Amino acid sequence: MESIEQLKIHYNWTEKDEKNLQSISWLAEKYKEDFIDGFYRYLENFKDTSKYLPHEDIRLRHKEKVKGWFVSLFTSKYDSQYLRRLYRIGETHVKVGLPPHYVQASMNFVREYIIDKVLKELGYSEQTRKVLNSINKALDMNLDVMVNSFREEELRLYLASGRYQRFLIENIRRISWFFDAFIVLTLALVGVFLIIWISYEFWLVISGALPLERGGLSILGSVLILYATSELLSEEIKHIRGGPLSLKIFVGVALAAIIRKILVISLSPEKFQELLILSLVTISLGVVFWLIYRVEAKE
Ligand code: HEM
Repeated sequence: MESIEQLKIHYNWTEKDEKNLQSISWLAEKYKEDFIDGFYRYLENFKDTSKYLPHEDIRLRHKEKVKGWFVSLFTSKYDSQYLRRLYRIGETHVKVGLPPHYVQASMNFVREYIIDKVLKELGYSEQTRKVLNSINKALDMNLDVMVNSFREEELRLYLASGRYQRFLIENIRRISWFFDAFIVLTLALVGVFLIIWISYEFWLVISGALPLERGGLSILGSVLILYATSELLSEEIKHIRGGPLSLKIFVGVALAAIIRKILVISLSPEKFQELLILSLVTISLGVVFWLIYRVEAKE
């Protein structure tokens, strides 16, 4: 963690900034209740707020703490004690498993709220511009320290592991990266083969080797598989960038393959039994797809 002196230098924080904030501390007192109501309305935007703030007593406690933080933003001396308080807030958020994104996003709400009230109360002037500058710096410093706790917690966990564990973690990461790269390359190659296959089917239709009706349906099925493969590819790229892997895409590829088969044999009435079995498989895959979709949407 940076010291308060370093932080002040990095953010160009001066005595003037502290005075600017203190000069409008009456505004914090006047609006603290309105602020906390707005803040909590804003928190309802996050779909799992109730996961972190499940009970009324926790909410009430949090409301009081956030109100205290809001007022001290304007009244506090920006010293090492203040820095420790901010760091503790960050640590509490880490302990409850709150994603740092939520803190970052809600700080944007706080910024907009304060700017709105300052402009409403003071109007536009040179002094207002200076006050707003100081507020922006104070909020950036707050966010910096709070979010740093998340990074330092991650780092602490990593450093707490032994030498061999770290060696293992590093190598598993490399192997997993290699697997991901291999999967992306394979999917890209499958896509290229599919394009060649679709062009070949076009050629068969044009040269008359394949009847138009059968050829058209076969091409449609192959395009469907190409589409599913491309979805799988973009899902894998999202996964490499750190996103979760969606299982439903795999089921989607299986569905595309079965639908293609159904399209092709739908022109042969004698294959009625096969068609029936494939329809049952499609329905089962559809149900699995829907179930995974529901679970993933809930998450
Ligand atoms: C600008 C954003 C935020 C500020 C300034 C803030 C401030 C605080 C403060 C001052 C505490 C008390 C820390 C302590 O004394 O140890 C706290 C705790 C907590 N915060 Fe936040 N918070 C913010 C955003 C959020 C968000 C977005 C959530 C959840 C959606 C959240 C959930 C919690 C929880 C669950 C606790 C622990 C409550 C308890 O058990 O007492 N906070 N926060």
